[in-house]
Amino acid sequence: MAQQDPEDYPIWGYAPWNQFRDPLAAFVGCTRDEIALVRNATEANSYIANGVDLKPGDEVLMTDQEHPGGEQPWQLKAKRYGIAVKKITLPKPVQNTAQVLNLFSDAITPRTRVIFFSHITTVTGVVLPAKELCGLARSKGILSAVDGAHVPGMMKLNLHDLGCDMYSSSPHKWLQSTKGSGFLYVRDEVIDRLWNTIATEGWNEPKLRAERFQRIGSSNIPALWGLRASLEFANQIGMDRIEKRHCQQADYIHGEMVKRHAESWTSPDPALRCAIATVNVPPIHIGELEKWMWTKHKIRIRGGEPYKIRLSTPYYLRRADMDRFLEKFDEYRKEKKINA
Ligand SMILES: Cc1ncc(COP(=O)(O)O)c(C=O)c1O
Repeated sequence: MAQQDPEDYPIWGYAPWNQFRDPLAAFVGCTRDEIALVRNATEANSYIANGVDLKPGDEVLMTDQEHPGGEQPWQLKAKRYGIAVKKITLPKPVQNTAQVLNLFSDAITPRTRVIFFSHITTVTGVVLPAKELCGLARSKGILSAVDGAHVPGMMKLNLHDLGCDMYSSSPHKWLQSTKGSGFLYVRDEVIDRLWNTIATEGWNEPKLRAERFQRIGSSNIPALWGLRASLEFANQIGMDRIEKRHCQQADYIHGEMVKRHAESWTSPDPALRCAIATVNVPPIHIGELEKWMWTKHKIRIRGGEPYKIRLSTPYYLRRADMDRFLEKFDEYRKEKKINA
């Protein structure tokens, strides 16, 4: 990083960072003024929960599959200010869009002020029908806030088309960006309704638009260089190709697991799944399987107790990598005398 002028760097706390916001805004389909560069989805979700005005008894509706970095900012607000957090239970697997819409629609009350949900959930990887849910919220005058931690880099994303009021993300996940390069999106019409959580010069200047949310004091510019590089890389390959391969890979490994009598927790609707396939494999305990795969074969898998395996298939995985996992999975079952 060249430093022509002593003031260039590291005087970095209060810049618009348009050289990073512009390519990101183009990638996610919004304007630069609607984007604040923050550290990660947890920070963006906290900004959202802290920033909207809610009164005691007002309700926030979410799913039972939220990540702590999405749910807990609302739980904090509930404990501190007496709002109510209500949850719908997502079926495993989710069958279709109408099922999700009905669950949300039935749970809305006259006190519902915000609908918050993961675009792709951490628990099963289901891709929720975000556009339809945001449309439902808008039709009832309810704010929509979407946790999109997993989305950029996994699937194509156009925030204006999605129609959400707020969106958070962590491109260090599927875009393989640097850690600490997250973002908060706030639809232009909603920006003036959101309070700052961190306040310094500019917090009360509406003309800064979403830039006021990224004024957090001295910050980490090298992480943003990483973000821009990861955007360029994904654009070179093309998100169409990436998304297509993600779906093909997850469908392959999911199909192979079902052949092995795994119970599918992955939606049968292709629109509601992408690069995360989740299966339930009783009586195999995930903790033991994870340990065996890693210590014996250096294969890293993740899941959830007691029997859930969450298989992520980023595009750089090869068929041979997935087949090696499947072969070792069969070996494990044989060794443990499990004839599922
Ligand atoms: C849906 C979802 N939201 C939020 C997070 C938190 O991400 P971060 O730690 O980057 O803030 C995760 C992490 O896995 C997640 O899956």
